[in-house]
Amino acid sequence: MSSAAPNLSARDRLVVALDVPTAKEALAMAARLSGRVGMLKVGLELFCAEGPAFVKELQAQVPVFLDLKLHDIPTTVRRALEAVLRLDPRLVNVHVQGGPAMLEAAVEATRAHQAAGGRTELLAVTVLTSLDREALAALGHADSPQELALAYAKLAHQAGCAGVVCSAWEAASIRDACGEGFHRLTPGIRPAGVATQDQARVMTPAQALQNGSTWLVVGRPITHAADPAAAAEAIVAEMQA
Ligand code: C5P
Repeated sequence: MSSAAPNLSARDRLVVALDVPTAKEALAMAARLSGRVGMLKVGLELFCAEGPAFVKELQAQVPVFLDLKLHDIPTTVRRALEAVLRLDPRLVNVHVQGGPAMLEAAVEATRAHQAAGGRTELLAVTVLTSLDREALAALGHADSPQELALAYAKLAHQAGCAGVVCSAWEAASIRDACGEGFHRLTPGIRPAGVATQDQARVMTPAQALQNGSTWLVVGRPITHAADPAAAAEAIVAEMQA
């Protein structure tokens, strides 16, 4: 399901994480960012609070990446995904950890949606950046987070996912292993000179692009800025430079 290397502009590549609790705040932010960014990321907090109807309303302004990180038995994920695909988000995701059969069920559902004219592409989450080596050992993994992320990316690629969510630090090795057309969507982006907050391993927008990120997820440096539109435009300029 991976498409050819996308001919995306810097603006298309910028995905803003709408980590706000209410539809009202999200829609106000969308109005400020519409036309200036490629996508808005709606996570579990906002989706659980405001639901599918709100996503439809948001999508009328800016394409949405529905970051629900589905993870369950194959049939359950397929059916949940079929419900989510009715909203036709630009991107949706599942956890690689659900295993090959679950990934294949998700790919099948997404392909059926695309065959019917839908635009959604399916990404898979490799390793949560909140899991360090110690946490992975407690879960029974001997590999480092980097090794596991690469192995999981290969599984997602084999299953037919369009790409992965990963750290920008892993994007180059995943691109080299899975090909340019297999997308890398990377959070943990901080413009030069901006506070890293709780992100441990950050990259600047320019570094992330150089290291093979397809899409860059940026949250607080834009949503908490005094002027979010100007902050988004500055990041797009940094990407272009
Ligand atoms: O505000 P900030 O730019 O740190 O937001 C990053 C967004 O990306 C948040 O929504 C966060 O949950 C998400 N994310 C992340 N690291 C991951 C996966 C998702 O920061 N590994």
